[in-house]
Amino acid sequence: MSLQVFTAVTGAAWESELVGALDRDDHGVTVVRRCVDVAELLAAAATGTGQAALLSAELRRLDGAAVARLTAAGVAVVGLVEPGDEAASERLRQMGVARVLPADAEPEVIARALREAVGGAPGAGRELADPRAALPTLGVPPEPAGQGAVRGRVIAVWGPTGAPGRTTVAVALADEAARLGTSSLLVDADVYGGVVAQVLGLLDESPGIAAAARQAGSGILDVGSLARLAWAVHPRLRVLTGLARADRWPELRPQALLSVLAEARHLAQLTVVDCAFCVEEDEELSFDTAAPRRNGATLTVLEEADEVLCVSGADPVALQRTVRALGELREVLPEVEPFVVVNQVRRGPVPGDPRREIAAAVERFSGRPVRSFLPADRRATDAALAAGRTLAEVAPGSGLRTALRALAAELAGLPDPSARRRTGRR
Ligand SMILES: Nc1ncnc2c1ncn2[C@@H]1O[C@H](COP(=O)(O)OP(=O)(O)OP(=O)(O)O)[C@@H](O)[C@H]1O
Ligand SMILES: [Mg+2]
Repeated sequence: MSLQVFTAVTGAAWESELVGALDRDDHGVTVVRRCVDVAELLAAAATGTGQAALLSAELRRLDGAAVARLTAAGVAVVGLVEPGDEAASERLRQMGVARVLPADAEPEVIARALREAVGGAPGAGRELADPRAALPTLGVPPEPAGQGAVRGRVIAVWGPTGAPGRTTVAVALADEAARLGTSSLLVDADVYGGVVAQVLGLLDESPGIAAAARQAGSGILDVGSLARLAWAVHPRLRVLTGLARADRWPELRPQALLSVLAEARHLAQLTVVDCAFCVEEDEELSFDTAAPRRNGATLTVLEEADEVLCVSGADPVALQRTVRALGELREVLPEVEPFVVVNQVRRGPVPGDPRREIAAAVERFSGRPVRSFLPADRRATDAALAAGRTLAEVAPGSGLRTALRALAAELAGLPDPSARRRTGRR
């Protein structure tokens, strides 16, 4: 059966010729509707009478949200740009259009792209490939991510409910990596209320992440604009602040966040993302596939990250929450293999040697080893919160800071700085 296609390329000089050629020749494609604007295209998509849409980059009011709605309606999208217009291609890709062709491509090439888009074959878009396959493993130093250089790495800091210390860990890792010479970007992507700006004492009037997502939705986010939206806290540390008002969560659409992370990889060698705790998929919404999902942002970051840290508390209640959260994560994203960081370790809530007992319990109940232990140090964290500064600034000699610095070094692929100091090699 022939593929039913909507077009929305009105205004382009080549429109009539292309649509005629697609329809006329036997490419297995039938143009069922020529839409004049985005509104008509979305309305047509909602009727369920077409499986694909061919649209031009010049279509007015086209943005990432419209592309997401088309996809959610089961309409695969192929974009057309004026030949050689790289900026327009990039804009479309950022909106989530994985297949983009020059408008002077042969009709049969365009028809094939439409068929492949419907069939779900991977396109050239970076979202569709599994980026993890091409990335170095933990411990391998990343290439410098300067202008036009190789991709930096993305670390997601996640964990269960109960405030185990995700933000504390995320802030410290980005800061310590920067102090060790790795350019770092800290992204606050907590859709239940971001606090990174407050923790770092930044007088943030408009969340950088929301502005970046907006630009990504319009296809105009690039590494320069992302850099401008982020605070430069010190020479190698940038911070993209989050949504302090939790009710603004719909602004963080997953596709837009993917684009933000893609640009972040060009901006910094290491991007650390402070994520929300919840990975539940909203069942009530599962029949309305176009509805925004609050946890979509978190799931997207966890899926896209090169490493996922699961930060756990160290008492029995927190550990049980961690085991449960790891189970939920396995259900929704079985490919993601988080590593567990147990924070706030102290004598008291767990009998015996807390590290040994905790490691055994986590391994037994979740099947995952504990990769790192961070001591409880209320004095250090309180001093940091009171001053709106980082642990390195207010408690440089604390055990908590030392442990976080070692973890940052490991994630950045650098030798442990304390080990260097111990052996006298500086
Ligand atoms: N190792 C630690 N020792 C002592 N206090 C800590 C430690 N880590 C975090 N805290 C404190 O615990 C509290 C919660 O930490 P944080 O805000 O980092 O948690 P969270 O997981 O991001 O929470 P939320 O669910 O609010 O996002 C803060 O007051 C923080 O200073
Ligand atoms: Mg937090």
